[in-house]
Amino acid sequence: MEGHRGPCRYGVDASLDAEIEDLDGRIESVVVRCLAPTEAGVLQHVARDVFDHNVREDYLQAFLGDPNSLLAVAIDDGVVVGMASGLVYGHPDKPLQLFVNEVGVAPTHQLRGLGRELVRCLLARGRELACTEAWVATEEENAAARRLYAATGGREEASRTVMYTYALNDDEADGVEPAVASGATAGPIRGR
Ligand SMILES: CC(C)(COP(=O)(O)OP(=O)(O)OC[C@H]1O[C@@H](n2cnc3c(N)ncnc32)[C@H](O)[C@@H]1OP(=O)(O)O)[C@@H](O)C(=O)NCCC(=O)NCCS
Repeated sequence: MEGHRGPCRYGVDASLDAEIEDLDGRIESVVVRCLAPTEAGVLQHVARDVFDHNVREDYLQAFLGDPNSLLAVAIDDGVVVGMASGLVYGHPDKPLQLFVNEVGVAPTHQLRGLGRELVRCLLARGRELACTEAWVATEEENAAARRLYAATGGREEASRTVMYTYALNDDEADGVEPAVASGATAGPIRGR
């Protein structure tokens, strides 16, 4: 699931200088903040394994140009070492909601509180944009992600969800069989 331009405000309150706990007991200064549409250049230097794939300029421009697509990044000395992406979306019958799409922290920077700050940053932006709820799903076996979401105030839903994906590109979309992407996930879907 991916996500566009609107009432986003990109001000000073969108950034926070997070004091990140270093495993060696040092305190590093890493900036965690949401990117503005004009800040594609920030993603010129991205550490390995922050995103699933290399950032593509056209995809990035489309993403940042969409006011409902949110991207929080953690920047360490000019290099993006973590990110959390989200999508603000509406319903005809419900107030705006925030879907937390992906969170990734470079292995070199994991377990220092960065994931927590990135998710908090995204949730804060969602609140600013009048979202009344945020949700995220992950694989049942992803212990790190589940701990992260619990640590940032996420409440685990009691019911299990099964996710289906459809190939919509011409090569694969013969319109026959939807692919079952995974088994039960920890995330809520009902009513979303
Ligand atoms: C999930 C991920 C983003 C966590 O990032 P992080 O910066 O290491 O997380 P934090 O340091 O902020 O830790 C947040 C909480 O998760 C816990 N945690 C982090 N990694 C953990 C692990 N491997 N095992 C168990 N708990 C873990 C921390 O102890 C902390 O919990 P606490 O506050 O109760 O002590 C990171 O492991 C990652 O990028 N994983 C690969 C991509 C992924 O699976 N993303 C999520 C699904 S889209």
